[in-house]
Amino acid sequence: METALYSQEEIVEAWHIKDSSEEEDHRLSKHCEPKEFVSFLKLEELGIRTWRVGSDHENEEKVKQISESRGYSHSFSNLHDLHPERLPNFEQILKRFFVEHLHLGDEISYCIQGSGYYDVRDENDRWIRIAVKEGVMILLPAGIYHRFALDLNKYLKLLIFNAGPAVVFTTYERPGDDLPARKLYLETLYEKGMMGSPR
Ligand code: LAC
Ligand code: NI
Repeated sequence: METALYSQEEIVEAWHIKDSSEEEDHRLSKHCEPKEFVSFLKLEELGIRTWRVGSDHENEEKVKQISESRGYSHSFSNLHDLHPERLPNFEQILKRFFVEHLHLGDEISYCIQGSGYYDVRDENDRWIRIAVKEGVMILLPAGIYHRFALDLNKYLKLLIFNAGPAVVFTTYERPGDDLPARKLYLETLYEKGMMGSPR
């Protein structure tokens, strides 16, 4: 069980974005006009969770505790130092992160330094842009379509770990509608009355 100390808090800002052309810089905020912010409650309904972890060293322990309290192994972690000068295939990796995809397990990310955006699809298939920053931990549920981009600061150090049935952190590009994780996810939205029956 999670303790109150690690409960979800309203710490990220999220908004709907315009469906724009491929050429547009994904590092822009891409707000609609007028701006359409997305509430913390809405993110929660979509199965997204966030925690304020902080960014000094002792927080590694906190991240470990949150993940272990949810039955996740901490060992499938992947540290990404997304820095244009330090990372040899910086542009290539960012391009890959920006391809819409899903996973069979939850994706948990702890933002150690810098900032960036997770884009997720809502129940109407509209993009929501979630701004993550230093000290934030975010969970995207298995089966949700998402992608990742840096913002104009162009730097982020991110620890990603994957939880669920797969040992390997496999990425399934859209369309992955026949995958059990996708069906299960849609089923949860249906049960909450957020959408019609998913076939
Ligand atoms: C991943 C993130 C970028 O799956 O969504 O690696
Ligand atoms: Ni992912």
